[in-house]
Amino acid sequence: MLSDTSAVVTGASSGIGAAVAQALAAEGATVALLARRRDRLAALAETVDARAGGRAHVYQADVTDADAVRTAIDAAARDCGGIDILVNNAGGGTWGPALTADLADWHGTVEVNLNGVLNTTHAALPYLTRAAAGHRRGVADIVTISSAAGRRVPGPMSNVYAATKHAVGAFSEALRQELAEHHVRAGLVEPGVVVTELTTGGRAHAPDATRPTGYGLLQPDDIAAAVVFMVTRPRHAAVNEILVRPTEQVL
Ligand SMILES: NC(=O)c1ccc[n+]([C@@H]2O[C@H](COP(=O)([O-])OP(=O)(O)OC[C@H]3O[C@@H](n4cnc5c(N)ncnc54)[C@H](OP(=O)(O)O)[C@@H]3O)[C@@H](O)[C@H]2O)c1
Repeated sequence: MLSDTSAVVTGASSGIGAAVAQALAAEGATVALLARRRDRLAALAETVDARAGGRAHVYQADVTDADAVRTAIDAAARDCGGIDILVNNAGGGTWGPALTADLADWHGTVEVNLNGVLNTTHAALPYLTRAAAGHRRGVADIVTISSAAGRRVPGPMSNVYAATKHAVGAFSEALRQELAEHHVRAGLVEPGVVVTELTTGGRAHAPDATRPTGYGLLQPDDIAAAVVFMVTRPRHAAVNEILVRPTEQVL
């Protein structure tokens, strides 16, 4: 369904981003994989090539480095023949009590989760509007991976993480309003707790996906399915928001 399209996925070296890249490639998209860990991206590119028959290109970049992001996005557009879909997925951050927080950690979370999204979106917008105006699909997509914590603060300790996810939600909605006439859809996917390195790495106060629930937690593929649903709608239908929680998750 996505043959003749190309998608940039940030944070494609693990977790949700890797699953999204696989899923888009399985739909026929050429995928541009962007993250800092080149070896992980290269390994993923090999499985994309083998499994889907699709193509994958690798770009090592830190999303907090605006110049590096622009260079990578320009290269991706050149290598892939344009950009139809941008998935703003790279993210992370720290959780913990405000009273003892390290200010540098707060700034670091803003740098990745908010400024990273701004850097990639700014660099990709000219290519997205061009793709939307072209004849391939007549539409382009920006999908941003926010969080259930971007809809409501899930509790103490999530202070700056929740703030950045609320911010990208506002940014995505503003983009949606501005870009509607250009046929660039802006969608927000808001996962609850998903089993990834973020939730199984033992980070203090972070959501913990290491304890079995009996019913099962979300896997990266569950989120990838939501992204695929968004970007495979016909051009007249924009799915602007999808919240996906594990069945047993309360907040
Ligand atoms: N897991 C959850 O429960 C959950 C819930 C809601 C929302 N989310 C969101 O889902 C997204 C993906 O997280 P995940 O759970 O899949 O965690 P993950 O497995 O730790 O993946 C994070 C990805 O982001 C990349 N990344 C981090 N900092 C980066 C930087 N400065 N520059 C470029 N890439 C960077 C990492 O790649 P490198 O380290 O190779 O750069 C990695 O590929 C994040 O935005 C997260 O906030 C996750």
